[in-house]
Amino acid sequence: MSYRVRPPARPLAGAVTVPGDKSIGHRALILAALGDGRARVSGLGGGQDNQRTVDALTALGVAITPAGPDALVIDGVGWGGLTAPAQPIDCGNSGTSMRLLAGLLAGQPFSSTLDGDRSLRGRPMARVCGPLSAMGARIEGAPGARPGEIYPPLCVAGRRPLLGIDYASPIASAQVKSALLLAGLYAQAPVRVREPAPSRDHTERMLRALGVPVSVPAPGEVVLDPTGFSRRLPARDWQVPGDLSSAAFLLVAGLLVPGSQVTVRGVGLNPTRTGVLDALRAMGADLRTSSVREEGGEPVGDVTARASALHATTLAGTLSVRALDEIPILAVAAACASGTTVVRDAVELRVKESDRISQIVKELARLGVRARELSDGLEIDGPARLAGGVTLKSGGDHRIAMACAVAGLVARAPIEIADVDNVATSFPGFESSLAALGADILKQ
Ligand code: S3P
Repeated sequence: MSYRVRPPARPLAGAVTVPGDKSIGHRALILAALGDGRARVSGLGGGQDNQRTVDALTALGVAITPAGPDALVIDGVGWGGLTAPAQPIDCGNSGTSMRLLAGLLAGQPFSSTLDGDRSLRGRPMARVCGPLSAMGARIEGAPGARPGEIYPPLCVAGRRPLLGIDYASPIASAQVKSALLLAGLYAQAPVRVREPAPSRDHTERMLRALGVPVSVPAPGEVVLDPTGFSRRLPARDWQVPGDLSSAAFLLVAGLLVPGSQVTVRGVGLNPTRTGVLDALRAMGADLRTSSVREEGGEPVGDVTARASALHATTLAGTLSVRALDEIPILAVAAACASGTTVVRDAVELRVKESDRISQIVKELARLGVRARELSDGLEIDGPARLAGGVTLKSGGDHRIAMACAVAGLVARAPIEIADVDNVATSFPGFESSLAALGADILKQ
């Protein structure tokens, strides 16, 4: 499938919601599966990535049933109740499913295999296999592009109890941290993870809400002490907030199309995720949050974007970590901003669903934007008048596809974006949401 996007005749206007937060969805599903009884997870996004986690848990013996359009009822099997899957578990395109499940499976008294699609088979897994092996699990993966790296499929021979670990991760990664914390539920001694910068902290918040002793002695450091853990997780319901990473595409559309005002309601505003709002505000964006409240231990609110004249900024350090998933759409905003925007400390973009640094630079070039790759980021010169009449490529990457679609709203003539099926991994209905705001976008 592809998108055909035309610059809208009128400003974008309206208030919409977005599908539930993908990161929180994975965690709610896993923790509900380990609970002592029935729990309801509401507000799930319906994306394919969360569905991969649902299918994996089902294969591990958990009964999961639909309970309305965006809710599932999970019959938790308890801390020790998972059973060996009959077949390899297919994580599809979902790196979060694979890495979180690797941590969970490391502590199970059986062996299992985690596999994925072509893109996932090319993503590095040594980051989780290394520390999980040090905790006593045996994990074998496949060789691949980079010597010494480990790629899926991963064969995980679990061990219970696992050993404790004090792990200084070379990368700020919530997937690595969360894998180790989930493994920590099955460890005999504390699991401590130190990161170069604090990554998203949903797992810590949710484990604490379940009474698991998790502490944060310093920013970028987390400890789970299993000696104070009862080995029981209560069954509790979770309400998943809207995904700010998805909302970001609609908000940037509202900032770029002249005269627009776009509100996204009920989105997660966890400070480890709001780097995109901070970066846009630093670019001069008129972004306002309202109705901020707490739901399920996470801050949630409405965000309104009003069309703004943007200027360049620099993203580096912890801000890059807090905005990493939104850099494709920030790059589109930067192309329309005056001056040269610089993104650094974002080398992880090279091992996402695509090499996002190279893919963004290539697609911006097709639009006539001058952008350059850096080893750990990129530079974008603005303001550019985006060329129309071109076909952009997503590289099979949902966030590139959606960023390109937003660029089409401010191009000089209609553009096409090829290969957009992958948008369904995180934001099913993206084109309808954009169209509801007045955009002219067609999926064909
Ligand atoms: C995620 C963590 C981040 C993020 C991904 C979701 C998570 O990945 O990019 O989209 O849910 O833990 P890394 O842990 O690889 O940084």
